[in-house]
Formats: sequence, structure tokens, C-alpha cells
Amino acid sequence: MTDTNTNAAMTYGSYLKVDELLGLQQPRSDGPEHDELLFIVIHQVYELWFKELLHELDHVKRLLTADDTPRAQHTLKRILTILKVLVAQLDILETMTPREFLTFRERLQAASGFQSDQFRQIEFVLGRKSEAAVARFRAGGRAHTALQRRYTEPTVWDAFLHYLAREGYAVPADQLSRDVVSPIESSEAVQQVLIDVYHHDAKNLELCERLVDLDEGIQEWRYRHVKMVERTIGARPGTGGSAGAGYLRTTLGQNIFPDLWAIRTRL
Ligand code: HEM
Repeated sequence: MTDTNTNAAMTYGSYLKVDELLGLQQPRSDGPEHDELLFIVIHQVYELWFKELLHELDHVKRLLTADDTPRAQHTLKRILTILKVLVAQLDILETMTPREFLTFRERLQAASGFQSDQFRQIEFVLGRKSEAAVARFRAGGRAHTALQRRYTEPTVWDAFLHYLAREGYAVPADQLSRDVVSPIESSEAVQQVLIDVYHHDAKNLELCERLVDLDEGIQEWRYRHVKMVERTIGARPGTGGSAGAGYLRTTLGQNIFPDLWAIRTRL
């Protein structure tokens, strides 16, 4: 096989840009400290998976809009499988002891996962939007532009409600025309629709269950991340300037799709 631009033979290395990829891990500690490479690799791998998750979440929205239920479900299954890998990766970082982390922590300065724009993009596409999160990034830069676009775009939940309406369910008009920037709030009328789905509609019940999996998967990552933070830095403040584990605990237990949880006691 030849590369049409350069006429050079395509190889594993040239297709995947392996030289460039392997040049991207640049420890800042003197030595450098042994564990810093792991820390950088894990975070870079996370960013790549975040990129793939966003790619798939956008796809789910498009498939729901096209009423393609089987492929939407299939894509959600892929997203959940990626989420499991994201959670499992924390185990690797937990092999780093608090003292090993302290050998290079000060070199991070104010850098923190808190500044991951792709994580914020995932939150936005799932309905947890914040103008302040957009404003933290330089206007005109990649991160700011991407976040600003996602801020005004409908969420996965909006795509799902419109899909249910086209499936013949009485989704209230105010939900279908809701301001997509606002948080997703509980709606008794939507819960009635979902209860109906769970009683009579096996196809869409499966779709609902995959959305619950997605919600639970994100919450699982948050929980495992905060426990990892507690065991690695205890009650120290974060490099990003927050109270650290204390701040992260405030993000736990918040359901992304509240109605899908609210109906459980009534099924
Ligand atoms: C030793 C490892 C880690 C420690 C000690 C740590 C610590 C923290 C702390 C203290 C915060 C709160 C913000 C701050 O003040 O900095 C935070 C936020 C965050 N971290 Fe980590 N982290 C670690 C690894 C990771 C990894 C591997 C990721 C994957 C990308 C990650 C992603 C995030 C994200 C997305 C937030 C923002 C969460 C939110 O605001 O809801 N962290 N981290």
C-alpha cells in the first residue's frame, strides 16, 4: 500500500504516527522520577479515550435522531465498555504510593484534571453545562471553541426525548422545547412515559437501561477517582486550587438522567 501524498509505503509507524506519539511524554522532574512517566501516560491515554467517547456520544445522538434504535444501543454498549476501561485504569495509578507521587507533584504546578476540557465536553453532552467552565479556557483556542459549541447543542437526553416522542409517546411539549443549556430536571410527565415504556416496550426499555448504565458508569468513575485521590494525597488541596477530595465528594451521587432513577420505586 502506498501513501498517495508522499508515495512512501504506509507502515504501522507512519499510519499511527508512532514517532510523534512516543515523543509526547515529557517528564518535568529531575532524574526524571520513575513514576512520572506512568502519570503522564495514564493522563494521555484518558484524553484519547475522552476523544473517542465524545465521538461515540455524538454518534448516539445522531442515531437517535435518525430513529436507528439498534445502532444507538450498539453504540451505547461500546461507550459503556470504554467507561469500564476508564474506571479500571485507576487501579494502575493506585499502584503509585503517596510518597512516590510527592516525588514529582510540585512539578505539576497548577495543572490538574480539573482543566481537562474534554471531560467538561463529556459533562456538557450529558447535560451538566457551565458557562464558568467555558470561560476558563482562552477565547479562540481549541478547547474554548469546542466547549462553546457543545454548550448550545442539545444533550443526549434531549435527543432521547425527541426520539421517544417520535416513537409515539406523549412527551410533554415543554420538555421537547426545553432550554438545552439548563440542567436536566425531573419531570412527572416524563416519568409517566418511562413507566409506560418499562411496562410495555421491551425495545425502548433496553435503551433506557443502557442510559442508566451510562449514568452509573460516569458516577462510578467519579467515586473511584475520589477514593484514589484520598489514598494518594489525603486531605491536601488539589493542584487545580480546589479543596481536593472535599471538593470532589460534592460531585458524587448526582444522577445525570434523574427521571430514569426516580421511576425505579414505582415500577
Ligand atoms: C494521582 C493521581 C490524581 C490525583 C491526586 C488527582 C487529584 C485531583 C484533585 C485534587 C482534583 C480536584 C481539582 C483540583 O483542585 O486539582 C481532581 C480533579 C479532576 N481529576 Fe484528578 N487526580 C488524579 C488523577 C486523575 C486522572 C488519571 C484523571 C483522568 C483524566 C483525572 C481527572 C480529573 C478530572 C476530570 C477532574 C475534575 C473533576 C470535576 O471537577 O468534577 N485525575 N483530581
